[in-house]
Amino acid sequence: MKHNRQLVFLCSGSDCKGAGAKSIKKELKSELKSGSLKGRCKLIETKCLDMCKSAPVGIVENFFCKKTTSSQFINEIKKALNVQG
Ligand code: FES
Repeated sequence: MKHNRQLVFLCSGSDCKGAGAKSIKKELKSELKSGSLKGRCKLIETKCLDMCKSAPVGIVENFFCKKTTSSQFINEIKKALNVQG
């Protein structure tokens, strides 16, 4: 079955959680509920991606977002989806 939503991955391993993945998840979830990404993207939490030195780590469109922040990560998703704002 074809999926119309962009899949994004966020590591939820302990190092990434300690480095801010929890707040990235929280902000992304609120963007997915009511922001411009609503219905356009699906967050999948992963186990450790074995890149802990670059924590927090996410993946958008086959690219790693290393040492990312919530605004950087959300901007990368918006770029991938051609969403403004
Ligand atoms: S805990 Fe996230 S890459 Fe290892």
